[in-house]
Amino acid sequence: MDRLEIIGGSPLQGEVKVEGAKNAALPILFSSILTSKGCRFDQVPNLLDIDATIKLLTHLGVQVSFDKQTGQVDLCAEDINTLEAPYDLVRKMRASVLALGPLVARFGKAKVSLPGGCAIGARPIQFHLEGLKKLGAQIELEEGYVLAKSKKLIGDRIKLDFPSVGATENLMMAASLAQGETLIENAAREPEIVDLANTLIKMGSEIKGQGTENISIQGKQELLGCHHQVMGDRIEAATYLTAAFMTQGKVKVTGVSESDLKEVLHKFTQAGATINCDQNSIELITNSRPQSCDITTEPFPGFPTDMQAQFMALMSLAEGVSWITENIFENRFMHVPELNRLGAQIEVQGHRAKVTGVKKLKAAPLMATDLRASACLVLGGLSAEGKTTVSRVYHLDRGYDQIEVKLQNLGAQIQRVKSS
Ligand code: EPZ
Repeated sequence: MDRLEIIGGSPLQGEVKVEGAKNAALPILFSSILTSKGCRFDQVPNLLDIDATIKLLTHLGVQVSFDKQTGQVDLCAEDINTLEAPYDLVRKMRASVLALGPLVARFGKAKVSLPGGCAIGARPIQFHLEGLKKLGAQIELEEGYVLAKSKKLIGDRIKLDFPSVGATENLMMAASLAQGETLIENAAREPEIVDLANTLIKMGSEIKGQGTENISIQGKQELLGCHHQVMGDRIEAATYLTAAFMTQGKVKVTGVSESDLKEVLHKFTQAGATINCDQNSIELITNSRPQSCDITTEPFPGFPTDMQAQFMALMSLAEGVSWITENIFENRFMHVPELNRLGAQIEVQGHRAKVTGVKKLKAAPLMATDLRASACLVLGGLSAEGKTTVSRVYHLDRGYDQIEVKLQNLGAQIQRVKSS
């Protein structure tokens, strides 16, 4: 397994363009199942999770070609030859459950393995299943698989108990081929939902309210192909801005808009950074230690859970005590023991963590546990005195394309050591 070696202390300076958003690209790739026509998506990031999605789509019979140099993916689901998404593919990436809605909507049948939990939590899918039942699907659970059947999905009113991103995406895709209108209440409002809705609209769907808590979808008999560019990755952008803050540098990220990161930028400002935004870029400038500030993760437009670990790394250097509350996942503090190995002073109390800032972190060997925790450890290494190593880098490669190259280009002393 590869590892990263980081010599901390270099202030990051410069400009970096973010890749396409992983969490928009994944549902958008699955939306190709909804039509027999060809789809072309641009700015699809070169990530392990994208590879896993393409492997599953290919298994189903979708023709897929991915040009990793340009980020362009062509897909055609004209000849689907199986409606089963097997456990050995689904277990590797939980977003595979997004095949369920499109398959049952277009073919009236689907057999998709239950995703199983992951490092950050149990991550059940009952909101997805209850919503599909509301649209008329018969749902059975058998030997770890979801069996979904329906002659024709019928639009209905679905009120989500929680604004689940995945459930909103699955149900929006299913409803786009249902008969009549569907209203999803208490829907997720993340920018990635809006990007998926815009893709479905290009395929001929009639969708209103995306980005609000009430999304209405007028179902169609069939959908067309489309050409869409995936939005920029706001979490990747915020990760590099955090790196700038922790090394007292000056970094501009391009390909992302301020509106996608309002709450995160508000917290950066509260912690003492200067933020400059224009239409398509965000710059963070600072030459001082961050001020402590509290964060609570919430559904969009609240502070995103996918930035919790990175912000905790920042607060570990802050002047004062910060409280970090994780409300979305039940086990998303696994980065704490590793950050404490760098000399951070963090104490977990249930779903809250008390971070007492220290002036300096000191290098240590670290081990990544999940995607965003790995990013947090890299950030810690960028500011720690000495040489930090981060092993199990495959966690990082799920959501960051060549993070070490981008950081090198910003002046970081970081290299990837390939496993023998
Ligand atoms: C998406 O996961 C993202 N993944 C996650 O990003 C992100 O952290 C999460 O949304 C929240 O923003 C992708 O988009 C591929 P949820 P998802 O359904 O859809 C519970 C990353 O690092 N829940 O909004 O799985 C669930 O257990 C990843 O890029 C149910 O209980 O998130 C969790 O506690 C990590 N039952 C909470 O809701 C359900 O049926 C939020 O889940 C569905 C969800």
